[in-house]
Amino acid sequence: MATGIPKTKWNGELQTSNSDNEQFTYHPIWENGNSANRLYFGDNISVMKDLLKDKSVKGKIRLIYIDPPYATNSVFQTRKQKDAYTDLLTGEHYIDFMRERLLLMKELLATDGSIYVHLDNKMVFHVKVLMDEIFGAANFRSMITRKKCKSKNFTKNSFGNISDYILFYSKTANAVWNKQFNEWTDEKVLMEFPFIEEETGRRHKRVPIHAPGTRNGTTGKMWRGMMPPDGKHWQFTPDKLDEFDRKGEIYWSKNGNPRRKVYLDESSGIALQDIWLDYLDVNNQNTQTTGYPTEKNIEMLKRIILASSNIGDLVMDCFAGSGTTLVAADELHRNWIGVDIGSESMNVILNRFQNGTQTLDDHINDEKPKTKSTKVDLFSDQKEEEQEPRPKQLSKVQQHLITDFSILANGNYSGTEFQLPTHLHSHFALPNAKANAAKQKESASKRTATVHD
Ligand SMILES: C[S@@+](CC[C@H](N)C(=O)[O-])C[C@H]1O[C@@H](n2cnc3c(N)ncnc32)[C@H](O)[C@@H]1O
Repeated sequence: MATGIPKTKWNGELQTSNSDNEQFTYHPIWENGNSANRLYFGDNISVMKDLLKDKSVKGKIRLIYIDPPYATNSVFQTRKQKDAYTDLLTGEHYIDFMRERLLLMKELLATDGSIYVHLDNKMVFHVKVLMDEIFGAANFRSMITRKKCKSKNFTKNSFGNISDYILFYSKTANAVWNKQFNEWTDEKVLMEFPFIEEETGRRHKRVPIHAPGTRNGTTGKMWRGMMPPDGKHWQFTPDKLDEFDRKGEIYWSKNGNPRRKVYLDESSGIALQDIWLDYLDVNNQNTQTTGYPTEKNIEMLKRIILASSNIGDLVMDCFAGSGTTLVAADELHRNWIGVDIGSESMNVILNRFQNGTQTLDDHINDEKPKTKSTKVDLFSDQKEEEQEPRPKQLSKVQQHLITDFSILANGNYSGTEFQLPTHLHSHFALPNAKANAAKQKESASKRTATVHD
């Protein structure tokens, strides 16, 4: 979990995309193939206005996940102390910032699309009200409470703060939904499915076959000479109960009470609830990370993507940071659009696409200055310099290489802010100002023809 530097203690200047360009037209400055995947360097408000002109995107995005600044009034730096982004909007300014953008996201979202907004306790309630207003209270699905870090020695006079929140809304009642399950643990299996069927060895539990409430239909009538208990009805019609019994799936107690057997081997697992304890962010020396502050747990993103989209769908994160959503979407065979305003974010995303992540330990060791030590040669009175220590082999995880995407920036892009992935495509050598202008012109006309038609 990253903590920002208070604004008063920071006197840097952050490099961000100069996207006050009124035309809001983004051009590819690097591209590979005809991929739907796009990474935008710019303010998401202008990028989204540009995307709304694109028929292949407007109303086609199945899932939006955002993890915007949280109104902390501070500045965030990478593990290597590079300024990453500022989070200085607070109060009404923050709400206006979010409202403008959420309205555009709603327009970009497909009718069966969903949006997840990740926040902490500062603004989650303000934004919940905003989301109710924009997406409709009826489309509120869940407010997920996530454990973000391990318990810590909290110095304030309050309980340790280890949670943050994800607001989940759908655009309409018919959103894509794939129920998510966790696997049963041995301990839980023994507790939940304590019985073994003698004939088959199948582990199962025995559950009542009645439910609260009376009914006038067949489920309220007699079955096998028995009425449902007072104030209750049978959960199934008598025909269905007969069928269960024929298949040996009804357990009759010594007193003649029927119960239905529910088998472990037919269970999909434990349905995921709205408290998530297993998706802590970078939390130990072996966690794989890009070193970007506030980088989210990629497994958490995968859960969200699996729940609310299908293979081939379009997923957008317009506060992309280190690109966690984009990598997760790509690994799950979704198409993606990423947007970020910061050049450090672009650097980190491009590096992540090409080189994967490192363990936190490697990041820390990488940061330590490599001091030259000296040793005394016992057989001469000369001091000789010891050889430069051999560079430590960093345990980079070669994540699935993502090469099929375009990177787009606005017309004023100068080509100096970050390192484009030149080694993947040498003919797209990092553009100097002149070559870049020509390339942009050429690409813009190509894009107008292929994308905006
Ligand atoms: C909390 S970080 C996102 C971290 C990300 N979820 C990850 O896993 O790495 C917020 C990001 O929003 C970006 N951002 C802030 N304002 C933006 C804007 N107006 N347009 C685009 N990106 C913006 C910042 O540069 C920063 O990278």
